[in-house]
Amino acid sequence: MSDFSDAVARRRTFAIIAHPDAGKTTLTEKLLLFGGAIQLAGAVKAKGDRRRARSDWMKVEQERGISVASSVMTFDYEGRTFNLLDTPGHEDFSEDTYRTLSAVDSAVMVLDAAKGIETQTRKLLEVCRLRDVPIITFINKLDREGREPFDLLDEVEQGLALSVTPASWPIGMGRDFLGCYDLLNDRLLLMSRGGTDMGEACQGLDDPRLDALLPAHAVAKLREDIAMVRGLCPPFDARAFLEGHQTPVFFGSAVNNFGVRELLHGLASFAPAPCPRPALERTVLPSEEAVTGFIFKIQANMDPKHRDRIAFMRLCSGHFKRGAKLKHPRSGKIINVHNPVLFMARERELAEEAVAGDIIGIPNHGQLRIGDALSEGETLHFTGIPSFAPEILRRVRSDDPMKAKHLGRALLQLAEEGAGSVFKPVLGADWLVGVVGVLQFDVLADRIRTEYAIPVRFEDAPIHTARWVECSDPLKLKKFIEDNKAAMAEDHDGCPVFLARNAWHLDRAADDWPDIRFLKTREQTPG
Ligand code: G4P
Repeated sequence: MSDFSDAVARRRTFAIIAHPDAGKTTLTEKLLLFGGAIQLAGAVKAKGDRRRARSDWMKVEQERGISVASSVMTFDYEGRTFNLLDTPGHEDFSEDTYRTLSAVDSAVMVLDAAKGIETQTRKLLEVCRLRDVPIITFINKLDREGREPFDLLDEVEQGLALSVTPASWPIGMGRDFLGCYDLLNDRLLLMSRGGTDMGEACQGLDDPRLDALLPAHAVAKLREDIAMVRGLCPPFDARAFLEGHQTPVFFGSAVNNFGVRELLHGLASFAPAPCPRPALERTVLPSEEAVTGFIFKIQANMDPKHRDRIAFMRLCSGHFKRGAKLKHPRSGKIINVHNPVLFMARERELAEEAVAGDIIGIPNHGQLRIGDALSEGETLHFTGIPSFAPEILRRVRSDDPMKAKHLGRALLQLAEEGAGSVFKPVLGADWLVGVVGVLQFDVLADRIRTEYAIPVRFEDAPIHTARWVECSDPLKLKKFIEDNKAAMAEDHDGCPVFLARNAWHLDRAADDWPDIRFLKTREQTPG
């Protein structure tokens, strides 16, 4: 295998999805610790705090104690190079998370053993299921009293329509949690409260060493449980996992470093290398030598010294070298990527090279938008990077009428970055801003004030929801827009949007116009 294809085959690009508080940050930190990317536990949070303290618009985050920013962390383990894409835990920023999921090849789902599947996990999982992203499950906090393992597995299977196969099995729980039985390698993993776990090989469940290492009642329960697991759950099936239909389940306690190494080993052995990516024109294979990629996230002001924007690009193919000139098919321009950044766990580092599966950050001043493709010349439009119909809409007002034009420009730029949706009503002068979670309004108001020097207010608008409208017959669409002018607007790409006053208004329009499709999500418009 050539160095290039070998480097691609080594990549494992994944995200961790979890409901807030399930332990995503703790697990991320432990993965980085095992991967040697950080030296001390606590560095992930400390870094977050430092970064927040440096950035003024991120004051909002600081005040509310949430993390809006996503970043990418790269580390090596067992001969693999992992790219871990962080996602904001707070549900108000879930759009960012959804887009991040478009850039990964697999995901780790973290569940709190006491809570099982929570709302946010369910929503994120649905997105993964749409793309059949392979999912590894980590059931966390076994050192606390939680729910019965069978109950949790049943919930994942029924609730998420995923077949489950335990990769490890817990022995006890809460104060009586002793460790796990590693079902894939027939090993006993004992938890030492001091920190790391210890593995004890044994020849299956009849091995007398088990009786020596565990109390009699725990061995009896373990044998009984494993007999049930083997009777009830299918064995691990690599193909079903890669197709997104089966999830291996690990049990552990991230805060105690327990089960993390096994999870990492599982990722190294079963998670897929970079997958082919669909584009409108064709499917792009990671092994192709020409560089291609798409932008899935834009982040402003990571470094306030340079009021820059970083576009995060997932490389879909090729071997990228610093200084590469890439074509931006939407504008037809060539972008010289002379100062890309890789987001290492500690600091921002200059990337010299990267291969398919890696993420690079491209500083720019607003040329790059979410969904944009970059290539070495070919015109490509990658698909699968969605926009979501906002659930909350407000009218934006500035106290300074002289700044109306500037405000429009600021709103369009922020919409292109994916910070919210912006709609210009066909009738009327006020812009409308739509978000998925209300905290996004605070971030937007703060950014418009600090970055564009325009003080703004968001006021309630009598609008229930927005839907993109499409029709295979352009004349019918035109007629629909004409007849519903008062409820129509355009998004930042000029696409028509229907603004419904209430649920009844939307249902009525859908009944009256059966040929019109009212869409809750829209793929980023190819340029
Ligand atoms: P999140 O990113 O998913 O929101 O969760 P995070 O890792 O911040 O964890 C949420 C809380 O759960 C933290 O406690 C963390 O210490 C705790 N936690 C994580 N893993 C485990 C585990 O395996 N066992 C137990 N018992 N607790 C765990 P906190 O009190 O909110 O914060 P901290 O002061 O401990 O950092």
